Amino acid sequence: MLAKLSLQQKFRKGPLPIYGKIRFPDNPPFPYFFLSMSAKILDGNALARSLRADYKSRAALLSAQGVKPGLAVVLVGENPASQVYVRNKVNACLEAGFHSEKILYPADVAPRVVFERIAALNADPAIHGILVQLPLPPQFDSGAVLEAIAPEKDVDGFHAENVGALVQGQPRFIPCTPYGIMKFLESAGVDPDGKEAVVIGRSNIVGKPMALLLTAANATVTVCHSRTPDLAAHTRRADILVAAIGKARFVTADMVKPGATVIDVGMNRLPDGKLCGDVDFDAVREIAGAITPVPGGVGPMTITMLLANTLEAAERAAEQ
Ligand SMILES: NC(=O)c1ccc[n+]([C@@H]2O[C@H](COP(=O)([O-])OP(=O)(O)OC[C@H]3O[C@@H](n4cnc5c(N)ncnc54)[C@H](OP(=O)(O)O)[C@@H]3O)[C@@H](O)[C@H]2O)c1
Repeated sequence: MLAKLSLQQKFRKGPLPIYGKIRFPDNPPFPYFFLSMSAKILDGNALARSLRADYKSRAALLSAQGVKPGLAVVLVGENPASQVYVRNKVNACLEAGFHSEKILYPADVAPRVVFERIAALNADPAIHGILVQLPLPPQFDSGAVLEAIAPEKDVDGFHAENVGALVQGQPRFIPCTPYGIMKFLESAGVDPDGKEAVVIGRSNIVGKPMALLLTAANATVTVCHSRTPDLAAHTRRADILVAAIGKARFVTADMVKPGATVIDVGMNRLPDGKLCGDVDFDAVREIAGAITPVPGGVGPMTITMLLANTLEAAERAAEQ
């Protein structure tokens, strides 16, 4: 069972070459920038499809034993982006044969009402995972809401108890976005062991847990943020570069080591309405070894790992 493994056991695979026989110096001089070596595009939709097929069959097995994995998603207010995320999460659950409940409240709902509902979901045996969509309206203390979710149903992995377990290397739930990125690396044959990894961003939901997971997988990890001087000096050392910034096309080709694996977490809306990542995809793909696109990269994997966490929660409940 995934949950019983330590982080090292979970993500440490056999040695796998990243760049084949091509070797580059650690600090590439400028001319390497001109080497064109179009990157392998890491297809998040394809990987998500294959993982979801596996989760669907595991859910069917579990349902046959009388335990149908169940996820409750709580949405407060009418934030259009949140509505899309919630719809996608609920649909993904239904497609995988899970039970799913969407619980909607108006933006001005009293926090007490939501806390009472979370308490009821905590006690509901049909629900194995509870997710409260963030951000919440100003009358809410988001931290208190996340702490109100029973840790064994906290499939986002944001409860302090689950964050602590992750820090200690014995996770109960791994936050979905970094979990999906580790799956990406695994499926692309990129073993972090002994590699230089640079994470841009230190948020609780992406940057920090990402750094923990890469460290557990034996990468040497540097976390960069808005106060990091000479960011490019760090990113150019990275064999694995994760960009979780929230700034469109921020990572340019001259910031990337030739052959690096570049994971783009960013989801930025351009003035023309199109989605784009934190990485200048067209330029960086010419120098990276592998790269995730936006859309179609990390996004579908995030929802897929929500299914994985809900399924794991249900499997654990079935064992009790
Ligand atoms: N695809 C998905 O499933 C998924 C999931 C989650 C998030 N996202 C996207 O990923 C992006 C990041 O999300 P988040 O929640 O982690 O964002 P966040 O909480 O806003 O964190 C952004 C991080 O980027 C750092 N940063 C900002 N400007 C920088 C700069 N100029 N140089 C270096 N670092 C800089 C910030 O540094 P400071 O800490 O110093 O402020 C912060 O740590 C967003 O576009 C979000 O929409 C996508």
